[in-house]
Amino acid sequence: MAKAKTVFFCKECGYESAKWLGQCPGCKAWNSFTEEPMVQTKPKGMTSGFGATAAKPLPLNEISSDEEERTLTGIREFDRVLGGGIVKGSLVLVGGDPGIGKSTLLLQMCREISAEHKVLYISGEESAQQIKMRADRLGKFPGEVLLLSETNLDFIESALEKEKPEVVVIDSIQTMYREEVGSAPGSVSQVREATASLMRLAKEKEISIFIVGHVTKEGTVAGPRMLEHMVDTVLYFEGDNSAAYRILRAVKNRFGSTNEIGVFEMSGAGLTEVTNPSEYMLEGRPEEEPGSVITTVMEGTRPILVEVQALVCQTNFNMPRRTAAGVDYNRVNLLMAVMEKRLGISMAGCDAYVNVAGGMKITEPGIDLAIVLALLSSYKNKAVDSKTIAFGEIGLTGEVRSVSMLSQRIKEAEKLGYEVCIVPKAKSARNIDGKPANIRLIEVGNIRELAALL
Ligand code: TYD
Ligand code: MG
Repeated sequence: MAKAKTVFFCKECGYESAKWLGQCPGCKAWNSFTEEPMVQTKPKGMTSGFGATAAKPLPLNEISSDEEERTLTGIREFDRVLGGGIVKGSLVLVGGDPGIGKSTLLLQMCREISAEHKVLYISGEESAQQIKMRADRLGKFPGEVLLLSETNLDFIESALEKEKPEVVVIDSIQTMYREEVGSAPGSVSQVREATASLMRLAKEKEISIFIVGHVTKEGTVAGPRMLEHMVDTVLYFEGDNSAAYRILRAVKNRFGSTNEIGVFEMSGAGLTEVTNPSEYMLEGRPEEEPGSVITTVMEGTRPILVEVQALVCQTNFNMPRRTAAGVDYNRVNLLMAVMEKRLGISMAGCDAYVNVAGGMKITEPGIDLAIVLALLSSYKNKAVDSKTIAFGEIGLTGEVRSVSMLSQRIKEAEKLGYEVCIVPKAKSARNIDGKPANIRLIEVGNIRELAALL
């Protein structure tokens, strides 16, 4: 018997090769090749463009640019991340760790829109009974949601043909397969084929399709990277295992901004929206304790107040220990070097731990000032007033630089009852629109001025 022909695929980027390679020439990943049977037939989705009957180019001016049709789900946090509701005919990938709540979120979305739209929930992971049990936990459904427990793409296609739903959920892409492809579900060629078919269906039939994708431990959707390139929108659902809150983040969005986040909390009856994340993040914070500083960070257009904590203490090791959770470790080291040089304090014999309470991960430089203030506060063992917030970027010479959206940050702090705000001494800081009435601004130009405040 002749040996079945196989090809090798890179699991990271989908690079195809006739032989096994140690390093992928496409994305330079090591040890990422898997062997899969060769597909003889041309994958169905790849034959022509989306619904194109004849390949005739159109002048740009003649194409109508009416606003895409959108459906609001009623879950405000979800709508915002999508860029203002579900776009008709879009393909959205929802990625996240197992157990984070992807299926719950999408089932809740189905519930919200089921009164006015025809919804089909296809699961390859759970039986219809299991989905029903989950739905019962979520509460009453105002309309009909069709359930289908299926993994074969041919059957799914004919179900879509017959039922003509407006919104479809596919849970999950890694369980879907097409017979002709031959390899196991979840393999590179199956995932690629399934996504291409779903993309074609979404565009041809103008169905909005949500696909669930599991995430590998490296933090990308399992299967080829290419999956992310093919879909219109990629959302990640993330959160700490220890914390109840979940953040939905757009990492790619053809129909909106990628800066927006949605905050949810997992409860006994599904996910509930957290409309005021600042209050949520600050719950249970210590008052008048050294090493705790409140700052505002921007998540998209939303200011969120978070608490930065630092602990500086005498080391018991030859090499002082430094850790950073929720902020960049190297950034903390850099800020400590700036403090040593510009303030003349020595922390060489000290361990230093920095943590953002609540498990948020902050990448923006506006948090620098709060980190330095928290470190100083712990080092000097002097508490920062609990009604004070601080934000600003710190440069290598110790200068405090301005950050974006100053007035929004100050307004959010004012709204939550803060009385003092330490801000960068910059031109932009002086002409904040609508001078806040109930908050006193303290401008600092460099970290020496900041240290003098303590
Ligand atoms: P699930 O949506 O199944 O996660 P995913 O599809 O991302 O794998 O959610 C899983 C977790 O959420 C599960 O551990 C149980 C919990 N959960 C609740 O706490 N409350 C609820 O009402 C529901 C439906 C789930
Ligand atoms: Mg699931």
